[in-house]
Amino acid sequence: MIGIYGHGSARDQICCLRLVEELGDDFKFYDGGTNPALARAAWSVPAQQMSAHDLAQACKADGISLMFVTDALVLQADTVDILAKEGIQILAPSRHAALLEGRKSLMKKLMVEAGVPTPDAWIASSADQAKALLRENWRDGHRYVVKTDPLITDAIHRAMVPETLIESLQDVDEEMEALHLAHAPEQVLIEQRIDGFETSVHVIWDGETYVLMPPVRDYKRVGDGDTGPNTYGAASVACGRGFAPELDRQLRERIIEPALNHIRNAGYAYRGFVYFGVMLCDDGPVLLEINVRPGNPEFLALLGLLKSDFADLIRHAANGNLAVADIRWHEDSYCGAVFAMGEGYPQTMTPPRAIISGLEQALSEGYTVVEDVAATDDGAFVVSGGRVAATVALGSSLEEVRLKVLDRLSAIEFKGKHFRSDLGYGIADELFASA
Ligand SMILES: Nc1ncnc2c1ncn2[C@@H]1O[C@H](COP(=O)(O)OP(=O)(O)O)[C@@H](O)[C@H]1O
Ligand SMILES: [Mg+2]
Repeated sequence: MIGIYGHGSARDQICCLRLVEELGDDFKFYDGGTNPALARAAWSVPAQQMSAHDLAQACKADGISLMFVTDALVLQADTVDILAKEGIQILAPSRHAALLEGRKSLMKKLMVEAGVPTPDAWIASSADQAKALLRENWRDGHRYVVKTDPLITDAIHRAMVPETLIESLQDVDEEMEALHLAHAPEQVLIEQRIDGFETSVHVIWDGETYVLMPPVRDYKRVGDGDTGPNTYGAASVACGRGFAPELDRQLRERIIEPALNHIRNAGYAYRGFVYFGVMLCDDGPVLLEINVRPGNPEFLALLGLLKSDFADLIRHAANGNLAVADIRWHEDSYCGAVFAMGEGYPQTMTPPRAIISGLEQALSEGYTVVEDVAATDDGAFVVSGGRVAATVALGSSLEEVRLKVLDRLSAIEFKGKHFRSDLGYGIADELFASA
């Protein structure tokens, strides 16, 4: 029996749908959130009021042998450690290993030690110190990004990419304020800004063996042509053929293998997904960050490309025998996902609670997942945040996927709905293996 515990993100939901399809009654979702499509599912267990100890007892009573957790903030707490102590197998990092994502300064230190290419960075423990560093170093050809060291929910203020020195000084203040509000240590990273093409490199790891997943690109900017402010992720597209051979080699040799080896040697190994945020630069791939769980919306596209059993993949990783897993991808396909976003998002995180039509039908067809949706007392769906619902499609060309996703998305309507219509935009030819 496999379980997922989470807040019911679109990523949780897509994993649930797949596991229910494969496992039927041998799957349960422990619901720590407010996703109404998950709350009403027969395989869903309300867990909003449960302590981690209650959750462990409920899992044991239900016969759960393996628990999968993907929620970044849950991973920063002790839930996974408590479940593990109760003898439940876990596909996720321990709280200690989750610091790889929870503290950017730790990730940076380890990656420098490992010899992984990553932009130079300083750690500043006060706004004055950060601003002095920026004033001293900002000049032609030397620009910097400002990032909070601890992981905070506020993804808009977590990493800021200013265009001018003046802007960068304001960003320091905004980040310090966001850290203060989050009761987190008030420390920021000032990191050298680099140019290139960004890609999300996902691997599944059993602590020894890793499997590289297909290349996936996520679209962070709200508008077509990568315009407008950053969102939490507006769309994603993945290619089953894999990375181009030379890039595949560089990613493994320069980033994935030295990083995983050093993470293991430093005592941070775990069984689960590792997501490397990578910038492809003129002289090769450069690491920007490590996440200890799959990306959202990247995983919507990646899971759609997995041809073999997902449950089987999860079990092999959790058992430490990925080396003998039979993993197959839809090699001749692309998979994409696009979010319908609420009015005014991401300038506002609380769009008007517009009524959503067509969602019930879309959900019944199986390629729609929701994230920021609430149910009213009379059973209607309303917008409750920025990323409302996403549709997913598989196809043999980028254009086919784009049209299919948008057609499916057009069935879901609400006032102020907006979305990226340019899936496939800006895909660098050198990213994917040739057909
Ligand atoms: N050194 C850098 N140079 C250029 N762009 C960067 C750099 N670091 C981060 N970015 C941009 O900012 C985004 C967010 O940064 P990231 O380190 O991934 O933080 P997080 O995902 O925790 O918010 C990246 O996806 C990338 O687009
Ligand atoms: Mg990131």
